[in-house]
Order: sequence, then C-alpha cells, then structure tokens
Amino acid sequence: MERSLTMELVRVTEGAAQESARWLGRGKKEEADDAATTAMRQVFDTVPMQGTVVIGEGEMDEAPMLYIGEKLGTGVGPEVDVAVDPVEGTEIVASGGLGSLAVLAVADKGNLLHAPDMYMDKIAVGPEAVGVIDINAPVIDNLKAVAKAKNKPIEDVVVTILNRERHADIIHQIREAGARIKLIEAGDVAGAINTAFENTGVDILLGAGGAPEGVLAAVALKCLGGELQGKLLPQNDEELQRCKEMGLDVTKVLYMDDLVKGDDAIFAATGITDGELLKGVKFITGYATTHSIVMRAKSGTVRFIEGTHSLAKKPNLVVE
Ligand code: FBP
Repeated sequence: MERSLTMELVRVTEGAAQESARWLGRGKKEEADDAATTAMRQVFDTVPMQGTVVIGEGEMDEAPMLYIGEKLGTGVGPEVDVAVDPVEGTEIVASGGLGSLAVLAVADKGNLLHAPDMYMDKIAVGPEAVGVIDINAPVIDNLKAVAKAKNKPIEDVVVTILNRERHADIIHQIREAGARIKLIEAGDVAGAINTAFENTGVDILLGAGGAPEGVLAAVALKCLGGELQGKLLPQNDEELQRCKEMGLDVTKVLYMDDLVKGDDAIFAATGITDGELLKGVKFITGYATTHSIVMRAKSGTVRFIEGTHSLAKKPNLVVE
C-alpha cells in the first residue's frame, strides 16, 4: 500500500465524524449513522485506491451505502480490503455521551477477516502483555499474566468490559480476583485500543461485542504492537450456518493473523464525542475542530491529528 494513503484515509473519518456530530444528543441514532455513512462515502470517492468493503453497514440489500462488497476509491491505486464503522457507538452520539468514533481500517486485498455481523468474544491487551493472554484460559489466569507482564499487583490491573447482563459472571470473576473494572456502555473498539495507551489507565479488554468491531480493533492493535484474540459467538442456527458458509470454524480462536493477515494495514479513527483518547468534534463559529488517530502497521507510525475545518466551504454540513 502507498504510504500516502494513510493521510488520505484520515480525511474520511474526519468527514464522517463532523457530519455525525451534528446529531449529538438529538436522540436519533439512525440519522447520526446515515450522516456519517454519506460523508464517508463521499470522501472515499476521492481516495486513490481500488477498495472493496469487507466489513460495512450490512449486506447490499439492507444498506444503501458502504455495504459489504461495495467498491470504493477512484479505481486507481492499490487493491485493498476496507472495514468501516461510520459511527462506533451510535447510542453514544444519540445521547451525547462519551467515547464514540468514526472508524475505518484498510489492508491489502484478502487480508481482513470477512467478519459476519454477530457477537465475538474478545480479549485484548497492549504491547507489554503480548503473548501472555489466552482467550480459553480462566479470567484470573489472564489477569495474573497481565499483572506479571506489566510488573504490578493484580489490584492495579484495570479491565474494560461492556456493561451487559451477559458479562455478569466475568465481572464477578474479575472482582473476586481483586482487579478493578471500567464498565463501558458502548464502544469496545475504543476499549481495546485504550489498552495500548498507558494514560488511559486500562490494561485489558474482556467480553463479547460485535465481530466487525473485533476486526477493526485488531487492525488498530496490530499497528500499536498489541494483541487481540477472538472467538465467534453465533446466537442461533442461522448465524452458525452463516459462519459455515463463510468457511469460519466457530470453535477456533481467531488470532491476530486470522483477523488481519500480513504486515501492512492502516487504521484511522476520529472522535465524534469526547473520549479518553480522542476529543470529539467541536463546532466553533465558522469552523469545526476534529481529533484523529491514524496509524500504519508496517512502519508502526502513530499520528494524532488535530484538524480545523472551515464551515464556510462546506455548507452541506448543516443538518436542517
Ligand atoms: P454500534 O456502533 O452499532 O452502536 O455498536 C456499539 C457497540 O457498543 C460496539 O462497540 C460493541 O462491539 C457492540 O455495540 C456491542 O453490542 P451490544 O450493544 O449488543 O452489546
């Protein structure tokens, strides 16, 4: 992939975040998602690549844009797989909460897992704890291993986990082990990425969330030198059948190279609302500000980008 693609792609998430942020706290998650999807689509049209969406807004018959199989880019340039989540945390935007992102990942053609839209059990850590986790091991063993790798007592380990009834048992086990917990209402892509940044105070992500979000987070952690392991969790026969048709063995652990093959991938995200790692979009008279992270696995370069965008030159940003 061209190095210059990295900077092109951050324009895509910046555009999506700005449009979606117009719906902050309006209680309309679909509109927030549509606005981001439309903006992403528009900017992708200007990016020099031959992309195919492998993780997107749904199948062709259920999503008008950014559907799985859709072609993106100018049609000139590298052939790439694209994963998009125009709004990671639609409820967060709708309620004006914390931690929503516009997210995408790109890798060489054929290198991203074509993840079905179902649940995935996940465990994720930053660089210091790579190689010590095991999704099949008991919770306490993983917490002890992370504590040892990070040279601190288990009481100082912080676990991020989605605040869901399905996680009651894991939460109980974490508390019994003496570790601490940061419960999040949504947004486990950010939850996984945060494990790679000391200043977030988070050491490990556990629990089940969306499989597409698992692939996106795996790309981010590949760039950051972290690790994510996943296991697909089909909820019914139909989902199980879907996995079989896609050649996916649900008993198998998905390691980093199953989620994103090869050594080259790009991840970009822009904050829609304020979060631990990224600030949200602010509309100030005449301009908007954005805060993004963009990184590339091959070089290991991580960039935080603050953007100032003239609103005078983008009248279509106004919602009504
Ligand atoms: P959306 O962007 O679709 O709103 O997803 C938000 C999210 O919290 C993800 O981060 C997470 O992987 C998934 O939903 C968890 O699903 P559920 O809300 O069903 O527990």
